[in-house]
Amino acid sequence: MPQTTPKGLHRLAFGGDYNPEQWPESVWQEDVRLMREAGVTMVSVGIFSWALLEPERGRYDFGWLDRLLDLLHENGVRVDLGTPTVVPPAWFYRLHPEALPVTAEGVRYSHGSRGAICHSSPAYRAAAAGITTELARRYGGHPALALWHVHNEYGVPVSACYCDNCAAHFRRWLDRRYGSVEAVNEAWGTAFWGQRYGSYEEIDPPRATPTAGNPAQRLDYRRFADATLLENFRTERDILRGLAPGIPVTTNFMTALSQCDSVDYWTWGREVDLVTNDHYLITDGRRTHVNLAMAADLTRSVAGGAPWLLLEHSTSGVNWQARNPAKRPGEMARNSLAHVARGSEGAMFFQWRQSQRGAEKFHSAMVPHGGTDTRIWREVVALGAGLDALAEVRGTRTVPDVAMLWDWHSWWAQGLEWRPSEAHDARERADSFYETLYDRHLTVDFAHPESDLSAYPLVVVPALYLTTEAAGANLRAYVENGGTLVVSYFSGIVDEHDAVHPGAYPGALREVLGLTVEEWSPLLDDQRVRITGPGGASLTGDVWTEFVVPRGAETVWSYADGPAAGRPAVTRHRLGRGTAWYVSTRLDAASLDAIMAAACEDAGVPGRPGLPRDVEVVRRAGPGGHYLFALNHSPEDAAVPLDGTGTGTELLGGAPVSGELTVPAGAVRVVRLDG
Ligand code: GAL
Repeated sequence: MPQTTPKGLHRLAFGGDYNPEQWPESVWQEDVRLMREAGVTMVSVGIFSWALLEPERGRYDFGWLDRLLDLLHENGVRVDLGTPTVVPPAWFYRLHPEALPVTAEGVRYSHGSRGAICHSSPAYRAAAAGITTELARRYGGHPALALWHVHNEYGVPVSACYCDNCAAHFRRWLDRRYGSVEAVNEAWGTAFWGQRYGSYEEIDPPRATPTAGNPAQRLDYRRFADATLLENFRTERDILRGLAPGIPVTTNFMTALSQCDSVDYWTWGREVDLVTNDHYLITDGRRTHVNLAMAADLTRSVAGGAPWLLLEHSTSGVNWQARNPAKRPGEMARNSLAHVARGSEGAMFFQWRQSQRGAEKFHSAMVPHGGTDTRIWREVVALGAGLDALAEVRGTRTVPDVAMLWDWHSWWAQGLEWRPSEAHDARERADSFYETLYDRHLTVDFAHPESDLSAYPLVVVPALYLTTEAAGANLRAYVENGGTLVVSYFSGIVDEHDAVHPGAYPGALREVLGLTVEEWSPLLDDQRVRITGPGGASLTGDVWTEFVVPRGAETVWSYADGPAAGRPAVTRHRLGRGTAWYVSTRLDAASLDAIMAAACEDAGVPGRPGLPRDVEVVRRAGPGGHYLFALNHSPEDAAVPLDGTGTGTELLGGAPVSGELTVPAGAVRVVRLDG
């Protein structure tokens, strides 16, 4: 996976989406003056400009973009240039109404927004390749060009189309994957409910059905839709690479699990030259800085641990949630630097200048409606200076402590209809396990279940309903070779076709866990269970219980009440040189922490005991130096012991530090450690 940095960018990236076509050119002069004032190093342009660049089919108007790129270059601002293929022009839809996507219910979307695209449409594909080729020819050699930004956020707002073009494309995809209709029938278990197909022509996308549809078909359709997006990304990328060699190509991901659930970023991470991500705080009552850290860790992980780039976040409120709070003073900088701590090579925003018209006029920006005499602008300028002072962290890698397994395919499968309990939510379990690790100040790498895990002392599996035989064998080898594994319930159940593994549950994980599960009994909404364990301590679970039969594992905690009263609730299996824990209910935060304390002890990962949970400490390291980032999200000042020799230089203030680092409430400190 080639991980490259934007060409000619020698600082951390700082800037945002820049949509100057919304303004008269006289405003551009003020824009570049303010960009210089704020220390902007790169902007993303042209993402939504197709209708301006190709006002009629085959007639191009590049004049304004020529002038813009020249102006940015003269002012020392690097350019991340978009291929504008996320919004085809109105003339295109008039010629090709069939390129508008269709929902599973048969509703065809209209033009007038963005992202209304059937990615199987031959006409769309040809037109997208056309404008990409024109841009690559015209700007591939422009001195301002640092990075290509293909499309925008593949997978949202439309993740799959169900039209007839897609049906034909799906059949071709199935033939490539399975080779025959018989093999499709076998994989999808079509003997059930008489769904057998006699030929590919009989197979449709999983459109609306009167009751539960075939789960394996639905799962395959998610894979197909993802693969179809990827085909289009690859086409554009290859055009750009061919015509503009030396310029890295990216497309902005949305790894936050609540923001895009339709793209398998493990695959996509290998396809881009530089992993970039967009992240927005979701104000749903949870600790936003924890969710941010999780998304950043996941982004770094899909980049294979290499540095990546935060391409969009917000200076203050967004405009697309039910309620959109402004960020608190200092929060934008903490957000930005938390991404940098976790591997981002900068902090970019949506967007530079707040729009006056259109759907996003109430979304915050670097230059707000109120102009420069505003808190946002002052904080933007301060952040630009801060990022400038951190330029030397470029190229270093975030140092992980432990790993968490995540697999989009398993998540997709678990989310299908007719499961034992709708209350069991894979993402919620992942969030929850992540939070316990965050609170222990452990930096988490995410890992694919079939990847090499040997570097991690502790691997956590919050929800892996779909577990392939290969993943099961991988986890077993990991434990036998000395690893500590923690697995949560309803994992290891089905294979890649959503077929239950033969034999007792949890088929793919029976051996490593040293147990079988005879039956599960999900709990009703207000039901709780008590589990008791070492020293008479007691914990609380809800959502799920199981009848666990130990087959080599020891029972550490047992159900004191509920449907599984008297049976094992949490077990530990010593296998080879390692240990595998199993947690058979949904533990509340305090209870989960008690189990993780024991597992962390087994694994020898102490974390940073004594540090308040909202003080985030992350390290980046490389041949050039070791850096400690300390972000204080709490309302109290904090003291953070320095690692290593215990001395260093704080880069944001430029002062030497030794022993303990004081981090005032709400502040960030970054120390280059000596030695
Ligand atoms: C992103 C998108 C941007 C802008 C932003 C607003 O998902 O890429 O174009 O819409 O959201 O938060």
